[in-house]
Amino acid sequence: MSAAAKIQLDAHGRLRHLLTTEGLGRELLTEILDTAESFVPVTRNDVKKVPLLRGRTVVNLFFEASTRTRSAFELAAHRLSADVLNIEGSSSSTTKGETLLDTLKTLESMHVDMFVIRHGESGAAEFFAEHAGDGVAILNGGDGRHAHPTQGLLDVFTIRRHKPDVAGLSVAIVGDVLHSRVARSDIHALRELGVRDIRVVGPKTLVPPELDALGVSVHHDLRAGLDGADVVMLLRLQRERMSGHYLPAGSAFHRGFGLNETTLRYAKPDALLMHPGPINRGVEIAAPVAYGDQSVILEQVSHGVAIRMAVMAMIIGAHRT
Ligand code: NCD
Repeated sequence: MSAAAKIQLDAHGRLRHLLTTEGLGRELLTEILDTAESFVPVTRNDVKKVPLLRGRTVVNLFFEASTRTRSAFELAAHRLSADVLNIEGSSSSTTKGETLLDTLKTLESMHVDMFVIRHGESGAAEFFAEHAGDGVAILNGGDGRHAHPTQGLLDVFTIRRHKPDVAGLSVAIVGDVLHSRVARSDIHALRELGVRDIRVVGPKTLVPPELDALGVSVHHDLRAGLDGADVVMLLRLQRERMSGHYLPAGSAFHRGFGLNETTLRYAKPDALLMHPGPINRGVEIAAPVAYGDQSVILEQVSHGVAIRMAVMAMIIGAHRT
């Protein structure tokens, strides 16, 4: 088990931070999903607030672009009645040379309870957790290629709501697996829930060989990879993380690995079509299927708020036992 997986749990196996979906265990993972389920009605009420984090302070510290994740963490904290501070990396004093450690210590001295951090370096959230003071919790909002645990959780939450027998499903994760922290967090979460048939599908340049060690099967042919799949999880081509010549143009990628009305038929007729967003229309996904009958992409976004509420409440809220 990785260091991040170990330090996120306290001596009793409860969540202290959330850094990765690796090693959460089926019981804790199920508790998170069940707690999120209990928050779904709150997110749909006219009055969308419960007092579980009243008096607590949550800092959202985002050093990378984000629409969904940042808004969902912010809404989740507000809906739990916390005070929320939003800091964009580009406007923080890190641009003046302040280190990540000094940024943490400066904000900590204002007596905040929880940090949500998104950073381009793998391991940034773990670094924060190692240096955080007692009682300060760290949630990983995405660190480099390493992990994006709340995305992994909201993905399995969305799958479970549609197909409750999760362990028996065939799940295909398609596209730029190499650069994807979402893929890694999905794979760990699915494995913890007992899913045996996990396939990663993409061109050789975008599927790292070490994924074999996570117990997934690797496919470089879209039809074979999607054959009989219950869930098709697409990933964005992360051009901003590509320094070499990993792939040809977007249109060429779509011809080989893009999902459209024709290629979606390779999977089961009732397969769920998922994508963490943001989507690149015409590259990994064709516009008509992105919001078609099989798509649950916007449900994923919506569930993201309930999942973040659950994690926050379990770590610093009145849900903590
Ligand atoms: C993902 C991310 O930032 O890792 N998006 C998200 O958080 N929903 C995936 C991506 O950027 O492609």
